Amino acid sequence: MDDKLLYEKLDSLSVQEKIGQLVQLTGDFFEGDIDTVVTGPLKKLGLNPSYNIYNTGSILNVTDPEKMIRLQTKYLEHSAHQIPLLFMADIIYGYRTIFPIPLAQACSWNFEQIERAAAISARECYEEGTHVTFSPMVDIVRDPRWGRVMESPGEDTLLARKYAESTVAGIQGRKTRSGAVPADKIAACVKHFAAYGAPVAGREYNAVDMSEHTLREYYLPGYQAAIEAGAKLVMTAFNTLNGIPATGNEWLNRDVLRREMNFDGVLISDYAAIEELIMHGYAEDEAAAAKLALLAGVDVDMKTAVYANQLEKIISGNEHMLELLNEAVYRVLKLKNDLGLFEDPFRGLQETVRRGSSSILADEHKQAALSLAEESVVLLKNEHELLPLSPQTKIALIGPYAEENSTLGIWAIKGNEADTINLKTGLLKHADPARLSVCRGAYMVPLDEREALGKYADKLPAETVGEEELLEEAIRNADEADVIVLALGESIYQSGEGGSRTNPALPEPQLKLLRELSGLGKPLAVIVYSGRPLILTEVAEKADALIQAWYPGTMGGEALANILYGKANPSGKLTMTFPRCVGQIPVHYNELNTGRPNLPENGSYRFASRYIDEANEPLYPFGYGKSYTSFAYSLLSVSRKEMKRNEPIEFSVAVSNTGSYDGKETVQLYIRDKFASVARPVKVLKDFQKIFLRSGETGTVQFTIREEMLKFYGSNMEYKSEPGEFEVYIGPSSQDISLSFSFVLLPEEEHE
Ligand code: GLC
Repeated sequence: MDDKLLYEKLDSLSVQEKIGQLVQLTGDFFEGDIDTVVTGPLKKLGLNPSYNIYNTGSILNVTDPEKMIRLQTKYLEHSAHQIPLLFMADIIYGYRTIFPIPLAQACSWNFEQIERAAAISARECYEEGTHVTFSPMVDIVRDPRWGRVMESPGEDTLLARKYAESTVAGIQGRKTRSGAVPADKIAACVKHFAAYGAPVAGREYNAVDMSEHTLREYYLPGYQAAIEAGAKLVMTAFNTLNGIPATGNEWLNRDVLRREMNFDGVLISDYAAIEELIMHGYAEDEAAAAKLALLAGVDVDMKTAVYANQLEKIISGNEHMLELLNEAVYRVLKLKNDLGLFEDPFRGLQETVRRGSSSILADEHKQAALSLAEESVVLLKNEHELLPLSPQTKIALIGPYAEENSTLGIWAIKGNEADTINLKTGLLKHADPARLSVCRGAYMVPLDEREALGKYADKLPAETVGEEELLEEAIRNADEADVIVLALGESIYQSGEGGSRTNPALPEPQLKLLRELSGLGKPLAVIVYSGRPLILTEVAEKADALIQAWYPGTMGGEALANILYGKANPSGKLTMTFPRCVGQIPVHYNELNTGRPNLPENGSYRFASRYIDEANEPLYPFGYGKSYTSFAYSLLSVSRKEMKRNEPIEFSVAVSNTGSYDGKETVQLYIRDKFASVARPVKVLKDFQKIFLRSGETGTVQFTIREEMLKFYGSNMEYKSEPGEFEVYIGPSSQDISLSFSFVLLPEEEHE
């Protein structure tokens, strides 16, 4: 439909019909007869009985194709203006083919693969009728106590931008002039705007407080990249930002998001976040909440009655508010138009259902999930080159994750654990069954910690055998084996939304198992499943080999087995720092130097920026990850050491595979601005390249340093570079620097 007709459609709506377009409900409002709805969900939500559910604009998390056809058909039969419903859902890292969690995917540093994963998710969504997915989440995270770090690409701004660009392109397709969303693609919603990843003390939904400089320098660019990639929606965050809830924050949503970032799409609240303005103590009542949210530019009210009950009164006789309403409704109608819903409210869903076939879980989809999982796993330790194993090795596979299918993470709402390849199944693709024993060894979650998991407690595996018996069996199996492979981890229900932990460590029963088995003196390889960096200091001491598996998705067990047996050489690099202890949190690579840095030569000198009971350095730094092979770097050439704004520096690095395995290396480029009008971090990731090299092969990696890379937000929030000296660090991690050189950015006047 062309824009003129869209505006005519808008003008044809009554105020109540317009308000309905801004309301998002769940599917139960459309099940059963109207009386059931009025006395049931409508009453429960507090909607005025007069609210016409056939004015509603969108539906949350209904993803069954038959139900969507039934619901859309029934809705359109009652819709006075034939404006189809939008179906929106949380398809964060896979629909039925589940990929590794985003924090794992980012560790692949392979954004082509990440885009492909998003494209496969979008295709499977499209085939079953979902129109909008609430992805990508690009909240920068520096605190592993927060459960939702699993959904984030990690602590670094450049990677957040790349993750945003890749996932929006995969979900929605490349930005088009018309704005139309092509077949096989759906609309992307970037979230959570803004800075939800920095709750005080890592406690879920807690306040966020940071300087505007920190917000702009680190937290906003990821959202901006998604918007520049064309994301059709943005979701507001639950948290306050410097005292003002994001969902009612006019500065954040109108000045920054709409005017500075040029976002003209739909701004949807997070779940009930408009109503929560009251609980925040920011809105006195529902009427105030509705007004504050509309003034702040929030278009869609997710799952509360606030807009439905309050907007009509607020708009009555108020031209400005009516104008804001019209703008919001137009954006919703435009989104529906971009999706082609006016021409086909089902977007091809009926055809798929008729055909009875789809690409869901197609071999090529599973192969993509396998490949990305292999590149997302991070090898943290491999003493005496214990790994890879030989198929002849007699293995005792022990631990609650030895044979666990619940490895999809908590946002795999359409994922089916029955589709998952678990670790035992994966190993049996390589190992002789007679040379593989499998046992549980310990509880996944201590019995006395299950209740705290609320509604998820019942989803935990039943522990039917006593802990002592489990341990005895584990020791017996270990005694008979050549190598112990210990599969440990936090439950997926200890991670994700509402999953903040004051002690993000392996559950105690699993640590006890580790201690007992490490005392046997057998080679011990530990695999850790988690949605966050756990405190692995003791595990790292006791394990000969240590692998961070994250939640690796549908093909996770096969990916891990391919790595354990050397069919795949691990290449993952951490995108979030692993602390040595909770006391170090937040610890991240791009910190400031301070006036008294704790230099290696300081020893125990007291008056430096240090702890007296722990090192400053984390257990594993950002960018860290081992391989079965080794790489050596040498600097080949640098085009200049004095840089001009419009004359970048080019340089090249030779990378040699000096080991006996073919492998992939991610060469990382960090830059330090030595002196500036605001203190700058000791290093910032500015570029990277992932290169495949055969054993013995040497490749060349080219980098370009542009003036744009040197820009930062000054004390007056102006985004610019400043002349002066810079350091360049090249290496396989943020701590392991292989090459460095310095250069100068000349002042403007010398640019003639
Ligand atoms: C949740 C999450 C958000 C999700 C939304 C809809 O509370 O915060 O990420 O998209 O509600 O389920």
